[in-house]
Amino acid sequence: MSAPDPWWDLALDPADRDSEDSARRRDADGTPLVNAPDSEGRMGLDYASYLGLDGLLSAGEPATTVPDERAFIAVHQLCEVTFRLMIVDLGVVAGTLARLAEAPDETVTEPLPDESGPSAFWRPAMTAAARLRHSARNVLPSIMPYVGRSDNDDVLFSSIEFSQFRHALTPSSGFQTAQLRLIQRAFAKGPLLDLPVFPGEAYGTHYAGCPVGHVALGDPLVLQGGHSRAFPEPGTPQALVGDLDTLVHEALARLADRAEHPPPRVRRLYPEEVDRAAARFRQTLGSAPEADAISGAFRQRLAAAAERENERRESLGDARRGAAALHGPLRGSILAFVLDRLAAADHALHAPDADSFFTVHRKTVRRHVADEGGTGGGGMPYLVTSQRYLLPLFPALVAYTDLGVMDERDRERW
Ligand code: HEM
Repeated sequence: MSAPDPWWDLALDPADRDSEDSARRRDADGTPLVNAPDSEGRMGLDYASYLGLDGLLSAGEPATTVPDERAFIAVHQLCEVTFRLMIVDLGVVAGTLARLAEAPDETVTEPLPDESGPSAFWRPAMTAAARLRHSARNVLPSIMPYVGRSDNDDVLFSSIEFSQFRHALTPSSGFQTAQLRLIQRAFAKGPLLDLPVFPGEAYGTHYAGCPVGHVALGDPLVLQGGHSRAFPEPGTPQALVGDLDTLVHEALARLADRAEHPPPRVRRLYPEEVDRAAARFRQTLGSAPEADAISGAFRQRLAAAAERENERRESLGDARRGAAALHGPLRGSILAFVLDRLAAADHALHAPDADSFFTVHRKTVRRHVADEGGTGGGGMPYLVTSQRYLLPLFPALVAYTDLGVMDERDRERW
């Protein structure tokens, strides 16, 4: 197992961070790992070394001398730094929900705090969940104009200049972002990472040196060195991020006996939705040879994923009743606050709304490479299939979200 990442040396147990001293990261001899005072008590930490600026500010090498390429690199880096924070925040929420299993009922149902603030048990998860919603809803969509237009309509990134360097980047593409794939796994989109939905010609040619057909989002050939970021080693704190949706439904199931009325069943995936997505995928293949065989295989895989998902949803009866309790008698609890923000973050990232991150990204693509394939080889046809036909099938917190969406107060919270 690789050396633990200091970012994941987190104290979720209130006792481990009840004072600055108890929370200080130390080596086996008790010496602080960061900014240890010397024998005269002097501490040498400076801003640049604390933030690791040497590594951060020297990361990423332009392939060309085109000035706008620096903006292109910086924009992707800004998004990846935001994804990194989102993953740690998801880890804090997942770790807190995992600890909820051992917590007393009054902690599970703790109401939203008055001015004295939440209990130390919930404090990190409340700020983490609120940051997640902010990152997905405000930060990511507001980074993308760097490769588009500003609010006063200034052009911030030139398509002409872009065409001067983009081909030098083949087959690298935002499609290979491993961190976002882990975030998507946290939001119950793991089944989509196995689907052979992306034309793999570019990756086959450049990485494998042979044709590979259609590839999946989570394929090691696609994610290359980033694969372990999307699929962290089991047993590491990062790995818990991928289990977030399961942990949410386990926490909800604990509240099943608090529901006042039996709620409607969790919505199933219908064969028509699978057919619709498969037909769309077939359409993107046009008159390619073996198009029917490729789309037939895709349809089978999607149908199998939908069947497994429906079995999972069948098993969420208790979680569903717990969700009804959170939307009813336990409304205004901290757990509801946290779940609302998780659902809002999933929505702000993926929904086909005008201002979601994926939609803002698609508008950027339309602005710069509308008719051309992307450097990864999927282009707009893939992006539309993904956002309009596949992502909506796997919403996060499925036993919770569709129970509350109809209520205006919820909309306000969203
Ligand atoms: C000029 C700016 C950009 C253009 C023209 C562009 C173009 C594309 C294209 C064509 C694809 C489809 C895959 C392919 O064929 O390569 C794609 C996928 C993707 N890009 Fe971008 N991109 C841009 C900026 C960004 C930025 C700043 C991010 C932030 C991380 C990003 C993240 C992604 C992600 C996550 C995907 C996969 C989406 C999915 O799986 O549904 N892109 N991009």
